[in-house]
Amino acid sequence: MKGSQRRMAALTTGVAIIIEALLGAWLVLAELVADDASVMRAISVPVHLVNTFFLLGALTVTAWLLSGDRTFRWQGPDRRMISLGVLGLVLIGASGAVTALAGTLFPSESFAEGFARDFDATSHFLTRLRILHPIVAILSGVYLMTQAQRRKDVAPRLATSITGLVAVQWGVGFLNVVTLTPLAAQVIHLLLADLLLVAWVLFATELMQDADSRDSVEV
Ligand code: HEM
Repeated sequence: MKGSQRRMAALTTGVAIIIEALLGAWLVLAELVADDASVMRAISVPVHLVNTFFLLGALTVTAWLLSGDRTFRWQGPDRRMISLGVLGLVLIGASGAVTALAGTLFPSESFAEGFARDFDATSHFLTRLRILHPIVAILSGVYLMTQAQRRKDVAPRLATSITGLVAVQWGVGFLNVVTLTPLAAQVIHLLLADLLLVAWVLFATELMQDADSRDSVEV
């Protein structure tokens, strides 16, 4: 059981790395780069980011399995909550990638101008889609926070990390909008999103851990 889970997790990580490379190659070969504002690019870029999340998630599970004598079992009432949390993160990531693409292709001169363009029927569809990201991030963030607190008993530090990361991420997100996304804020926002994903996956593995492989370290 332990060996097969480790092999499966490592194999899944390997497959995710290959898909990541293929998606990157596709973006370049199909010329979905520079000032291309096509529907195909608007689909490919979020798909690429979602696969990055998948890769990071698989890598996290592999590391968790290898860092102790532990296994997990996908069963019990928490499965639905974990799945909804993953769905929320995927929606946040995909909508965030669209927002980042719109910001790159159609940069705003000021916060007021950018805000007006979001609701202007004549704006490019990518600009009008930008507004979805904060809405999805706030709704899904509330879900992640409340569920982490609800199951705090299993992994108190991870629950606190998830709650803190969502709160800080909201702040950095708003800062991104108000300051017209300087590079440093973009990088910090993406880094925090990755850390949130890792924290949620670790939280899930702790909830799903096999009772007989549970250790006494507080996480
Ligand atoms: C749980 C909270 C949030 C998470 C996990 C999150 C995650 C992300 C991700 C993954 C991206 C794509 C980054 C990239 O592809 O470079 C992104 C972009 C962005 N997000 Fe968020 N976000 C959150 C909340 C917010 C909020 C509340 C706002 C504020 C309105 C916001 C504003 C933005 C902006 C402006 C971008 C584009 C930045 C760029 O050009 O790189 N985010 N977000």
